[in-house]
Amino acid sequence: MYDDNDGLWVTFWDAVEGQTIVLDGTLSSDPEGTALTYLWASSILEFSDDTSSMPEVIIPAGVSNNFIDDEGNFRKENLFPEKIVANVFCEPSTRTKSSFAIAAGNLGCSVVDFNIDNSSVQKGESIFETVDALNLMGVDLCVLRHPKSVIRELAESLPKMVFINAGEGAISHPTQALLDIKTIIDHKNSLDGLKIVIVGDLDHSRVTSSFVEGISNFDVDSLIFSGHPEMCSKYQNPEIGKYEPDFEKALQDADVVMTLRIQYERFEKDLDLDLETYKNSYQLSTSKLGCAKADAIIMHPGPVNYVEITEAVYDSENSVIRQQIANGVAIRMAVLSRFLSS
Ligand code: NCD
Repeated sequence: MYDDNDGLWVTFWDAVEGQTIVLDGTLSSDPEGTALTYLWASSILEFSDDTSSMPEVIIPAGVSNNFIDDEGNFRKENLFPEKIVANVFCEPSTRTKSSFAIAAGNLGCSVVDFNIDNSSVQKGESIFETVDALNLMGVDLCVLRHPKSVIRELAESLPKMVFINAGEGAISHPTQALLDIKTIIDHKNSLDGLKIVIVGDLDHSRVTSSFVEGISNFDVDSLIFSGHPEMCSKYQNPEIGKYEPDFEKALQDADVVMTLRIQYERFEKDLDLDLETYKNSYQLSTSKLGCAKADAIIMHPGPVNYVEITEAVYDSENSVIRQQIANGVAIRMAVLSRFLSS
């Protein structure tokens, strides 16, 4: 628990090992040197600018590995048989929703898989009434994906319910950032000193905003944003990193390339985009990949449309996209156990 007197100390209960790990809240004094540092606002998992009142929680990158056995399978431990987790997704999802459900099941929880299309939301009920009903039925933890910023208000009105942000409009997607960072650490040992390139529809990408927040805890060599200028308007003069509209230039000596799809469903106006021209400039092809380091890793949060990346690059040895999906389960087991054990 957070202790004012001792400064930023937090405990992380490692559910599998059954031990309490107490870590200093600064990255530099993490014994492994590979900690992922995040800010947690009471029960809400999200990043925030307001760091003044929040305890800092560190999840060592290795903790999620405790949920994977020697053969690479996810451990199934009946750790929280009395806990009920509801998966409330008010936007489409495959990977995030399924990985939370699998992670909760692996930890022994009961999982309520809430399907918005067959719910009372279709009869005009608000998300507040829906989540309140789940709370009254005894749900302990709500994994919530919603197009609007409702999670903070929900957590304030239902203080006993724990909320985990599984994607908040175009704003944030913190567990995706955790799994992305874990995937990079798995391949490169650390983020320190790396050249990271993010390309695609950055303006609509909650994956990008949370990733940028997450990696600000590391000493990366450089962070380059690339993509169509009308999809990168928020990243023209970024606080960290730089915008490079010429994707091939951006890729020079890159260690990590994160590709993102065009998120048409979030467009406010039609861009009148010629896809062939777009692909010539911004699709990650085998020839463009040649500009990056030979051992560069290629990432994508999914779903993949093969506009932003060719099938050959998706299937290449450099691609860690399928490992990102698998890491999603381990990270979500770590995050769920963190909250269910508090
Ligand atoms: C992303 C999302 O939903 O924010 N995908 C994911 O969670 N794995 C990215 C996207 O939709 O393109």
